[in-house]
Amino acid sequence: MANQDSTWRQAVIYQIYPWTFHEDMKRMPQKGVGSLRGIIEKIPYIREELGADAIWLSPIYTSPMMDGGYDISNYNDVHQDLGSLQDFKDLIQEAHQSGVKVMVDFVPNHTSDQHEWFVKSRKREKDFEDWYIWHPGKKDEQGNRIPPNNWASVFSMPNKRSRNEGNFPDLNEGDWTPPVSAWQWDDDRKEYYLRTFAKEQPDLNWSNPLVREAMKEVMRFWLDSGADGFRIDAINHLGKNMHFDDEEVNHAYNEEFYDNPYDQLLKENSCGYWGSLHGHVWEITEVLRDERYEDRDLRIVMEAHMGESDLRQLNDIAPDLAATFNFGAMRLNWGVAERKIHLDYYYQNLSEVGIANQVNGNHDEVRLATRCGDSIARTVAVMNFFLPGMRFVYNGEELGLHNAKVPHEKTRDHENGYRDGERTPFIWNESEKNAGFSNAESDQLWLPVNEDDFGISLNHQKTDAKSSFSLYKTAIKLCRELTSIQSGKYESLQADNAEVFAFERRSDNEKVVVVVNFSSNTQRSRIATDFTGGKIILSSIDVDQNPRDVNLEDGVDLKPDEALVIVAS
Ligand code: NOJ
Repeated sequence: MANQDSTWRQAVIYQIYPWTFHEDMKRMPQKGVGSLRGIIEKIPYIREELGADAIWLSPIYTSPMMDGGYDISNYNDVHQDLGSLQDFKDLIQEAHQSGVKVMVDFVPNHTSDQHEWFVKSRKREKDFEDWYIWHPGKKDEQGNRIPPNNWASVFSMPNKRSRNEGNFPDLNEGDWTPPVSAWQWDDDRKEYYLRTFAKEQPDLNWSNPLVREAMKEVMRFWLDSGADGFRIDAINHLGKNMHFDDEEVNHAYNEEFYDNPYDQLLKENSCGYWGSLHGHVWEITEVLRDERYEDRDLRIVMEAHMGESDLRQLNDIAPDLAATFNFGAMRLNWGVAERKIHLDYYYQNLSEVGIANQVNGNHDEVRLATRCGDSIARTVAVMNFFLPGMRFVYNGEELGLHNAKVPHEKTRDHENGYRDGERTPFIWNESEKNAGFSNAESDQLWLPVNEDDFGISLNHQKTDAKSSFSLYKTAIKLCRELTSIQSGKYESLQADNAEVFAFERRSDNEKVVVVVNFSSNTQRSRIATDFTGGKIILSSIDVDQNPRDVNLEDGVDLKPDEALVIVAS
């Protein structure tokens, strides 16, 4: 299908964390975890009420759940707590009938240590010996066996500092935490295996053609089951220097900026290694070009935590099919200059056929409203909706849900449940059992419901014209109606107030300007563009106000944190 016609081009993609979204109430007994049938029940909500065009399902596969489902023990089946393959097919059918595309998670870098491939590899079974990255290690001066190099695990106490949890050592005091080695000794095989993430997540050996073929077969399995594309996990980790050279020390490391001891080393060999990464990305995207998928509108979005110029390289490999997540905005300080530089760079460097994206959060990040505060969360949402490309919404973000404080005994995630706060159940209706998430007993829930957010349940917000939900719904609807937002390019504009950022989108017959106040005071700014009179059609604060006239040459008045959408009249 011609890429310019792709419905992904300006799609709103709703990310569902399946374990805590919704359990269908017909399931007996209730398990206290979300289900695929529960998602089916909510398709009308996603499509007709919110207005999303697609969903992305975080992993739904068989897994011992050491890493929230990103430790897969069978790629080709659904976790029995979530449902069955038949449920997935029904989900596809219902979603497609409602005009919703379905993107699934593809986790190519590692499996669970329970996966039969690893069980066989560990035993050196014929044909499977080299499916993972094994190494005998080396000897230190005392003759003790040590890992082959200094590569570190990403899970080296991640994000503790920024979350003010745990006892993070002070590097300046000389009391530092060495990163956890990425090499795990295996007593069965008497060798180390590489595990970039948890020790239960051995890295697959992508230099082995059999592995690559098996993983491409996994992709085909889900495409043939009806999936419309993939969110690809940790793709930069497929690029490894197989000579296993040590990483250099990151001399820029300081505890203010980095929150993970993993970052004490530069990453030039253990991941993002161009020599192999680019080829693997190309090979993965080629799967979608198979002639049997010719009539399908398929898409890939790749998770890669890398610098902007490295991301650019990945975006250029198959721009008509795949792009990396644009996490940049999520990491930036809230300031006009940073934002403008980032967006200008991002859009200028995207190829003509490429599809951009904007992301406000996901299952790994502190929720948007907790990260930025309720008010700025709304500002960010409006700004991102009106930018070109796919816009990702993490389930619950539309309500402005906050991170929950999960009691220690109820945590699920490793490292003391460090990401559980953003994964607690969706708050449907506070007057129903478990806020409408599941009918199981509350102590049976996979993660507890966050009662602190009962006041912002969907039920409450639906009838409140100023609510966060109403804002999301209105913004999504407007974006769909405005031809400039469907097709226009991004261009930043001059504002004569340093606290104000403005950009423009235009189609043949329509011009839209978005003006954003980055300060918590009222501001006035003139905006330089080729029209002066316009109508304010949306405010991030007063969602329900009627359109009102504004003159961009005289100046636009903005309330604290306000984002305005203005159409040329
Ligand atoms: C990124 C995923 O989003 C995260 O949840 C997971 O822990 C790692 N990749 C490893 O798969």
